[in-house]
Amino acid sequence: MEEEKKKEYSPGLEGIIAGKTGICEIDPERATLTYRGYDIRDLAVKSTYEETAYLLLYGELPTAGKLKEFSDTLRSERAVPGEVVDLYRRAPQKSHSMDLLRTGISLSALYDPEVWDDSIDANYRKAARIIAKMPTLAALGYRLAHRKKPIEPRDDLSAAENFLYMMRGSEPEGPAGRIFDSSLIIYAEHEYNASSFSALVTISTRSDIYSGIVSAVGTLKGPLHGGANEEVMKMLLDIGSVEKAEAWIMDKLAKKQRIMGFGHRVYKHGDTRAPILKEASLEICKFENYCRWHDISLKVEEVVKREKGLLPNVDYFAASVYYLLGLPLETYTPIFAMARSAGWCSHIIEQLSDNRLIRPTSEYTGKRGLKYVPLGEREGGQKAA
Ligand code: ACO
Repeated sequence: MEEEKKKEYSPGLEGIIAGKTGICEIDPERATLTYRGYDIRDLAVKSTYEETAYLLLYGELPTAGKLKEFSDTLRSERAVPGEVVDLYRRAPQKSHSMDLLRTGISLSALYDPEVWDDSIDANYRKAARIIAKMPTLAALGYRLAHRKKPIEPRDDLSAAENFLYMMRGSEPEGPAGRIFDSSLIIYAEHEYNASSFSALVTISTRSDIYSGIVSAVGTLKGPLHGGANEEVMKMLLDIGSVEKAEAWIMDKLAKKQRIMGFGHRVYKHGDTRAPILKEASLEICKFENYCRWHDISLKVEEVVKREKGLLPNVDYFAASVYYLLGLPLETYTPIFAMARSAGWCSHIIEQLSDNRLIRPTSEYTGKRGLKYVPLGEREGGQKAA
């Protein structure tokens, strides 16, 4: 029995099936990723973020009427409570955008009259509010922490266009809006990744959807998960030129350091999403006529593959794409979060439809059978007292 229990243990839960889902399927062998049965390679070029969010939440592609209704709801829910704006204004200068986003979601919950209503209809309404407000929180948080004038969301723009507008003060030109939209679709969902799983753990206690999203954002922040896209761009900036790339990487590998944007827990033959963003990176660099970051990315990719056999993950080419879209580094992970909010909310609603408290067990490795010694009788105890 003891032996059997030990066999079940897998560090980091690697390879463990922790639940059933009808939302997303990853096939690492065939290198495919589907949302509700649709291939990500199709969705990334043919769908929109709004349509993909609907698909994830409701399980099927919307009719034109349903999509309009859903998009109109998202557009009408973009504004955030004034109290969040006040708090962001008072936050320490240069507070990190992910910390502000996590806090903003938590504070927004206080102003949602349905926060404790866990009916299915209320959860769909709250999901739409969260998906709509996250881009506003991300843009506002960055701008106010950097003492820039906030830019109000517009209801005549798509989710992707509106975020770029709130960040830059101008509407996207050329392929920028479509490329950014595609990146949001790519980031929208990914099965039982660490942040989605932490949302499920929280929601399985019958806590509310906002608490689930706060858990997820905190989990996504780490550099081994969502924080990697920001770290990739720091690396590219530090490398500075294609000529310096090889020596830079060799030095890091010699010091046994990880190269951000490479490797994946599930995909061992390459992340399906990376080639889509690689294409996008090439397209935007050609449009902007500035390919330095794309070219360094290609060189680093070549060296890391040769030296470690590792391939880029989703975060790798997202960095050069976002940089050329004129987005500040510390908004890269909040962008991931606002896109992923559609996946998080879908998993939360799915979990609630057939909930069981998530509470695994552990293998004890500590001491046993110790006898309690009163404080005064412990070695050094009298001094302490
Ligand atoms: N750079 C250098 N070496 C690496 C990297 C990397 N990026 N990734 C894995 N390795 C090496 C490890 O050092 C280890 O080598 P060893 O066996 O000689 O010690 C081996 O590959 C296996 O690594 P693990 O940590 O066991 O692989 P795991 O599946 O746990 O890690 C992870 C996956 C965390 C993503 C890892 O590849 C990593 O740290 N990557 C960099 C961070 C990153 O890009 N995160 C984003 C992931 S995608 C996402 O979350 C959206």
